[in-house]
Amino acid sequence: MKTAKLFVGRHELHIDKRIGKGGEGEVFAIRNMPGFAVKTYLPGIVAEREKKIRAMVSARLADNASMVAFPHQVAVDGRGIFAGFVMRLVEKHKEIHELQTPSSRQKYFPKADYAFIVRVALNIARVFAQVHATGCVIGDINQRGILVSPTATVALIDADSFQVSDGAQRYLCVVGVPEYTPPELQGKSLKAIVRTIDHDAFGLAVCLFQLLCMDRHPFSGRFTGHGDMPLEKAIADYRFAYSSRNTGMVPPPGTVRLHDFTPKIAQLFESAFSPNHMGKRPSAPTWVEALGELESALRVCSRNKLHRYARNAMECPWCRMENEYGRPLFLDTDLTNVHVPNGRLDPAAGFVLDIPALLSAINGVSIPSSISVTIPPVAGAPLPSQAASEALSQKRLGPLAKIAGVGVMFGAAYAFASGVPGIVALGIAAFGGWLLFRSSSPAESLLAEHRKTASALSSRVEQLQRSSPIEQVLRKKAEALDAIDEFKQLASAFGNVRNEYEKHRRQKQLA
Ligand SMILES: Nc1ncnc2c1ncn2[C@@H]1O[C@H](COP(=O)(O)OP(=O)(O)OP(=O)(O)O)[C@@H](O)[C@H]1O
Ligand SMILES: [Mg+2]
Repeated sequence: MKTAKLFVGRHELHIDKRIGKGGEGEVFAIRNMPGFAVKTYLPGIVAEREKKIRAMVSARLADNASMVAFPHQVAVDGRGIFAGFVMRLVEKHKEIHELQTPSSRQKYFPKADYAFIVRVALNIARVFAQVHATGCVIGDINQRGILVSPTATVALIDADSFQVSDGAQRYLCVVGVPEYTPPELQGKSLKAIVRTIDHDAFGLAVCLFQLLCMDRHPFSGRFTGHGDMPLEKAIADYRFAYSSRNTGMVPPPGTVRLHDFTPKIAQLFESAFSPNHMGKRPSAPTWVEALGELESALRVCSRNKLHRYARNAMECPWCRMENEYGRPLFLDTDLTNVHVPNGRLDPAAGFVLDIPALLSAINGVSIPSSISVTIPPVAGAPLPSQAASEALSQKRLGPLAKIAGVGVMFGAAYAFASGVPGIVALGIAAFGGWLLFRSSSPAESLLAEHRKTASALSSRVEQLQRSSPIEQVLRKKAEALDAIDEFKQLASAFGNVRNEYEKHRRQKQLA
């Protein structure tokens, strides 16, 4: 679809490809303004946003918070009517959940170690502090609005939804996601609520907890009481699952514990999620200080260099979690730093290789014990196809057809006996026979097709499992170990030959 012309003042924007779409509008790159993007609102909300965006642009918020895509300039259409705004373009970033979820981290941030995660947490706290310093409140904290770069910098988008004040006029943030909404606002309509920095402090603490704790939500755990405990209710009841308070919740097995962090971080999480600190939750600058302290207290795990953890912790929490789940949380795909010295020719010993270094490089590659190919569950029982519905009704009619067949055949015999011409009676009898001995019902052929498909599916899964790369990796490892054994045998045979040669040479010389 062709986009309508857009202008900043009299300057026409050359609209490039669309880079995103949300519930409120679309975002495009601008060819003649590199480094900037324009967001245009959907017709339903464009008019109601104009005053807020003009206030944000006049307040020059974009100049005061470089990591936030605040409205920078107003964009209008060809008739000069408000259409949206120009903001900083955030490039080569990924949404925060791609970093905090172990499986997507391995895909999108394969080199990220735990120190990278702590640095990102620190940068999130910094950018929140930057927003709060402008007098804005984020309000709708969520995973799609926090973006991370490959160098651990953080940017916030969707800034036009922030709550902003312009003198006495306050433009509210009217939406929110329950996962990041503080207990006192759970279940309330956010349309008329004035959000505070303390509300943001709750959402910030949830974000930091999820990032530092491998995507665990602080209020998700096992409820020790009766019945279900939905996440929203657990938040409303301050049931922080990892707390030293009795919250009626226990964390899921094999997860982090607060004492895996520095005492300061543990204390900040307790405060952020406790009823006693409502109104005085740890602020973004407090988190910046504590995360800086955590960053300098990190030590490297002796078993995996991507594992870093607080020096005061008793053990590496990531090794513990990996043992519990049997799956790696961090995957080191960078093998360039495995240093195996080249072999060299030694006049006395022949070709010399550093076998222990080779063995430790080979054995140091962690190989998962299995790959399971799971067939994703179907969202709901599918409706029967038209053929299946017809087969079902025919199946129901089947016995009736058989009875009718017998009846028609008797009728034919009676007709013949009553003097109806033989050819006509034979025709009637043939029809009866067809009704009686119709070929197998379509239901059977559908069932056969179903069995065939199911068996094709399961043999494909077996084939995938059999040909999984693990087999290849294990085979390569076995080949490498065999080659090392062979080398050792050759080296020892070479030694024997050499001794033999030396003996002969000496004897010949003596002779
Ligand atoms: N400054 C930016 N730089 C790069 N991409 C952006 C930027 N702003 C938004 N996007 C992209 O556009 C998408 C939609 O943007 P945004 O979240 O601001 O829209 P929205 O209509 O307000 O959505 P929501 O309904 O979630 O509030 C984002 O998910 C992101 O992919
Ligand atoms: Mg929005």
